[in-house]
Parts: sequence; C-alpha cells; structure tokens
Amino acid sequence: MAEVVKFQGVGVVRSGRPILDGIDWSVDERDRWVVLGPNGAGKSTLLALASAQMHPTSGTVSILGEQLGRTNVFDLRPSIGLASTAMARRIPEAETVRDMVLTAGYAVTGRWNEEYDEIDDAQADTVLAEWQLAELADRTFGTLSDGERKRAMIARAVMTDPELLLLDEPSASLDLGSREGLLRSLSAYAASEFAPAIAMVTHHVEEIPVGMTHAMLLREGRAVAAGPIAETITAANLSEAFGVRLALEQRDGRYSARAEY
Ligand SMILES: Nc1ncnc2c1ncn2[C@@H]1O[C@H](COP(=O)(O)OP(=O)(O)O)[C@@H](O)[C@H]1O
Ligand SMILES: [Mg+2]
Repeated sequence: MAEVVKFQGVGVVRSGRPILDGIDWSVDERDRWVVLGPNGAGKSTLLALASAQMHPTSGTVSILGEQLGRTNVFDLRPSIGLASTAMARRIPEAETVRDMVLTAGYAVTGRWNEEYDEIDDAQADTVLAEWQLAELADRTFGTLSDGERKRAMIARAVMTDPELLLLDEPSASLDLGSREGLLRSLSAYAASEFAPAIAMVTHHVEEIPVGMTHAMLLREGRAVAAGPIAETITAANLSEAFGVRLALEQRDGRYSARAEY
C-alpha cells in the first residue's frame, strides 16, 4: 500500500491567525476520505495543501512521496485531480463540456500531435460517459445546471487519470434529485479498484457517499477526530466538531444528523 498524502504537524497561518493547526494525516492509495466540519473550519485549506496549491506555514506535507517546498509543484499537479467551486469559476462560460474535459488532458501530455489527440479523445469519451455527460458534450459550460456543472468539474478532474482526487463540496447547492444522483455516481466511482485515492470535503453528513472508508472532522483548524469512518463519524465527534449536540443515524451506509434537544 502506498501513501499518497502525508501531513505531519501541519499548520497554516493567515493574517496572524491559525487556519490549520497540528494536522497529521495519512492517505493511502486505497483510501476514500471524507473531511467534515463547519464553515471556516479549514477544509478547503486542507485541500489546497493536498493539491499543492499552497505550502504549509509549519510542519511537512508530502504528496506522492514528494515533500512540498522540496519539489516542483508543476510536476506534481498533473497527478492530482481537483474539483471545486473555485476551479469552476475559472472555466469560461463559452467552453464546451468536451473541451473543458479535454483541456485537462492537454495539461498533462503538453503536446498536440495527432496520436495524443486520439488518446485524449478516447479518454474524454470514456470520462464523459462515466459521468453521464455524453449528451451534454457539445453544450457550453455556461448553459449547464448546477448538477451538470458539478459532474463536468469531476469529469475534468478525473480526465488526467490522477493518483489523488480531491473534491471540495461536490454536492453543495444541488437539489435533492441531483444530489442523490451525484452521490450514487461518486459511490460507484469510489468502489472501483482503478479509482485513485479520494478525499472529499463536505459540511453535511447526508452528503457522504456510500463506500467512503475514512473521515476527518475539523473544527477551527484542528482535527477533532480522524480515522476509519465507522469510528470517526459518531454523534459525540460530530457534536464536538459542529458545536451542537447532534443525534446521528446511519442506514445502508448513509448518514443523517439533527440537533438533539
Ligand atoms: N488568505 C487568507 N487570509 C485570511 N484568512 C483566510 C485566508 N484564507 C482562508 N482564510 C480563513 O481561514 C478559515 C478557513 O477557511 P477554509 O479553509 O476556506 O474553510 P472551510 O473550507 O472549512 O469553510 C476561514 O475563516 C477563512 O476566512
Ligand atoms: Mg471550503
């Protein structure tokens, strides 16, 4: 088993304030992590580190065996797929779904010869079909619904066949049907032995897809709990992370939580 991500004593300070503090994290290639916590807990910052977009203020971050600060992040980034609202904002509204997925591939191969074009085309077709986007391939990004946009961003993130897939709130703001559809797709993807290590961020336990193996709960930049999901997603840990006394239910691998009065 190979370690894809390793954080040791990681801290991030911004404007003199600790945003992450003392984070230890180890992600194996077979792991599917969910990172949970309230708004402002530091979840997106954690993914910014894991995607080599940011360096820690203290401690060490290693990704695919390369320590940030001692490696060229431009060599590392093609091996990491990241889907987030921030990434979505960078996609031109006029770009077609096919092109936005394809261009992720060009970033890796960095060449435009015929042979690579064909491989990329075939890969794009596979990925578009896998994320139920085949019929939307010629639509422009700007005309997609929120749910379709989320799928398109994930398709773009997996296009390069990354070794680490990072998803920042992949189902936030979706209507119930779209959310359930996306969670189902994520579960199917996560179940594949060919899927990379996955870490997804959410602030709702209802948005945890079936099949996630590990969880980290963050509160104010610190890990309240981290480890195998069954031991970590508990009413006590959730209550501590969210600062509310919560009752937790689990059924068929899905979770739901509500305040306990
Ligand atoms: N560059 C920055 N300067 C100052 N504060 C920041 C900066 N980036 C993030 N923060 C703050 O750090 C905290 C954690 O942010 P973030 O990682 O985005 O949290 P989450 O994704 O869990 O909502 C927030 O309070 C946010 O306002
Ligand atoms: Mg965030």
